[in-house]
Amino acid sequence: MGLDVRQIDGAPFGGIVSGLDASRIDDETADALRAASRDHHGVLCFRFDELLTVDELNALTTVFGENEFAPGMITGYGRGPVDGEPGRSVAEQVAELRARGIDPYLMFIGNVDPRTGERRAVNDKFFGEWEWHSDMSYISAPPAYSLLHARQVPADGGDTGFCSQVLAARTLPADLRARAQGRGIKHDSTYSSNGIIRPGMVEPATPADAIGEIHPILRRVPGTDQEALFLGRRTNGYIPGLALDESEALLDELWAHATRPDFTYRHHWTVGEVVVWDNRVVMHRRHPVDPDETRFMWRTQTRGEAVVPA
Ligand SMILES: [Fe+2]
Repeated sequence: MGLDVRQIDGAPFGGIVSGLDASRIDDETADALRAASRDHHGVLCFRFDELLTVDELNALTTVFGENEFAPGMITGYGRGPVDGEPGRSVAEQVAELRARGIDPYLMFIGNVDPRTGERRAVNDKFFGEWEWHSDMSYISAPPAYSLLHARQVPADGGDTGFCSQVLAARTLPADLRARAQGRGIKHDSTYSSNGIIRPGMVEPATPADAIGEIHPILRRVPGTDQEALFLGRRTNGYIPGLALDESEALLDELWAHATRPDFTYRHHWTVGEVVVWDNRVVMHRRHPVDPDETRFMWRTQTRGEAVVPA
């Protein structure tokens, strides 16, 4: 069965891949998939007839880079100068997780108990619309690619939007570019995309006080000649070197431009699909879900690199 990649109808970017057997991805196929991702501006949608196994999703993830640990899975990982908790190495923590039957790369997203498949209680914020973001942009080397695998989807709602930050950079008005050029944004690690405070974090007094990594606003996309905006999340974003009100004003203008509807594609999910996207090229967000519906996804991600200014 041959691999087939075509453009998504009516979208400004993105490709649909069919004909992939995720249980046997050879080098030639992996090369073709990486090329397809570049050709389709960092978003590929895979159609599968059946749900993938964890090993198959991890193998598909490996096509795009080295698998990265799921957020919060390894204590201290990615947050500070020490790789892992003092006295407990990353390897020890991984071994302990595996002994408990937990895959350290896999994250469960949704209102379903991963063990039983039954609906479970979630915070009310789960059902609302999540803000545009790049995954884990608050760490020093944010993940390059993220993958979502649809296990259970609502009949309606729960779509995922993607927004090209290469298109946003290409069309950035000159005055906005002049004010952003050479500056960075501090990417707050306090809140998740659905507005929940992460474990161990406290709300900062102001965005300037938030804990997070500073990355350049205009970045170079590795492996391509492209420039992209890199804004992270709007909540608690801060531009060091500016007064807070100036930072807020510039961020508002940048976000208004970066999320223009003509830069976006909205994906409606079908069970079994995988969408892989490049966080260095696109931001994403989730649309609201009906509280009476179930939505359950598996997510993996690949290790990124330090963000290089454009
Ligand atoms: Fe996300």
